[in-house]
Amino acid sequence: MQHGKITKYGSFPTIDLPNRVWPNKTIDRSPIWCSVDLRDGNQSLAIPMNIEEKVEMFQMLCEIGFKEIEIGFPSASETEYAFTRTLIERGLIPDDVTIQVLVQCREHLIRRTFEALKGAKKAIVHIYNSTSPLQRRVTFNNASKEQIKQIAIDGARLVMDLLPAAAGTDIRIEYSPESFSDTEVDFAAEVCEAVMEVCGATRERPIILNLPETVQWTTPNVYADMIEKFISLIPNREAAIISLHTHNDRGTGVASTELGLMAGADRVEGTLFGNGERTGNLDIVTVALNMYCHGVDPQLRLDNLPSIREVYERCTRMTVPERQPYAGDLVFTAFSGSHQDAIKKGMDLRRLEGGNAPWHVPYLTIDPADVGANYEAIIRINSQSGKGGIAYILNRDFGFDLPKLMHPSVGEVIGEIADRRGQELSSKEINELFVANFVNLSSPLELRDFQTATAGKGVLLRCRATVMYQGRQLVIEGEGNGPINAFVKAIHSQGWKNFTLRDYRSHAIGTGSASESASYVSISRDSDGKTFWGCGLDTSIDLAGIKAVVSAFNRSRKI
Ligand code: KIV
Ligand code: ZN
Repeated sequence: MQHGKITKYGSFPTIDLPNRVWPNKTIDRSPIWCSVDLRDGNQSLAIPMNIEEKVEMFQMLCEIGFKEIEIGFPSASETEYAFTRTLIERGLIPDDVTIQVLVQCREHLIRRTFEALKGAKKAIVHIYNSTSPLQRRVTFNNASKEQIKQIAIDGARLVMDLLPAAAGTDIRIEYSPESFSDTEVDFAAEVCEAVMEVCGATRERPIILNLPETVQWTTPNVYADMIEKFISLIPNREAAIISLHTHNDRGTGVASTELGLMAGADRVEGTLFGNGERTGNLDIVTVALNMYCHGVDPQLRLDNLPSIREVYERCTRMTVPERQPYAGDLVFTAFSGSHQDAIKKGMDLRRLEGGNAPWHVPYLTIDPADVGANYEAIIRINSQSGKGGIAYILNRDFGFDLPKLMHPSVGEVIGEIADRRGQELSSKEINELFVANFVNLSSPLELRDFQTATAGKGVLLRCRATVMYQGRQLVIEGEGNGPINAFVKAIHSQGWKNFTLRDYRSHAIGTGSASESASYVSISRDSDGKTFWGCGLDTSIDLAGIKAVVSAFNRSRKI
């Protein structure tokens, strides 16, 4: 790398567009989507999809709701040709889906493409040639602008000439000035205007003008300026569908497309999860769900992203990264304590407000359930996590509704273990640690039997408990206005009482005959005022409470 004065690379020119309007626009409707998974996506794979994999992907793309699907480059190879024939001959193309095929503006390739399309009900023939100064100079050996424009015109003319013989197929035309993103905008518009003329594009039968960000050379605002300027330059705007096709070299494929839509484009080409040449094509899933979380229906069925991802990963042999927006394994997961607390509060509030209330959960732009992600992924516990997250998992997965004041105590014990282990704790491990440290503890004091009887007149209750304490079995007795109170008195009668009962609450876990009660008790140790929490679990609510006292007592003896 160079440092200081960098001479190897230069800045990229901006667009002179003083009255640009796109920055004030918002995206308020879904564009026409065109998936290029089976062409741009496929051509970038180390092992391209075979015909059956392409068929499976094609069918999934139809199920997702794509109405335009670029299925390949039939003149480029026998496999590509055979795949086009497979879709047509097996009758796999739904009536409301148009297949699109790519071809360079070269005669023999265009003719072969038309052969591949025989028998199709409708199709888009997508012709392209490269127009940028760099491509003109390097790839086309200093070709002039006129020569480049002529290539486009000749290609379009040949397509028009071949249309009558293909009358059984409803064919529309798409033209791409490839490398648009580094072409002079007025030249791109000039070439496109010439192609429009040749094709006789009208408002009723518009041409698709696809303006690729073939390589990302600049920031997305410049691409948006180019789109707005291009639209202002073409004379017959209504006779064209303006299409975007962005790649991701600078990591801003999504941003370029979004700003391009704000600049007036009608259509978007891209792939699932951004597969495609180099850093990939635009990720359609992200743009669609970005719209969705602003309340705009993207008109794509993305409700089950995990199953879409499974087919995608199997067919392409690519993997969706863990941080991939909306689809990655970790994108709805919070490890950090403060995030977990905020999410938990948001989810609790949502439960109170009801499922139809607008989504307002901190740190989560959409409800994970809308894309088929489960809530289990939201809060995961490691050393960065806090008490709220642990309480959330114990509640969600095991039904323990810990009193808020108990959270710090449980969080401290489990957080310390997570810290020591230096790895994530599973929900099962969290439960095991909670039970081992707080529930039905039996050492040094173990409850063996517990009976109560009313103590004659008044409200008093008498209890008789059989306990093991420091290796000795004893029967202890006490009276109080409830079982817990009576039991505390019984302990006191032995001279072991060194605490004051502070807090008690209980709730049922589960329903019907299988239900148990969970009780939580806090005591404060008389010697130093320190608080200890314990939990009791039993089918009897009374016994759950007594076991909670024993657990808290035992904790106070250990620490
Ligand atoms: O990225 C690109 O420019 C392309 C064209 C062929 C449309 O894929
Ligand atoms: Zn491309």
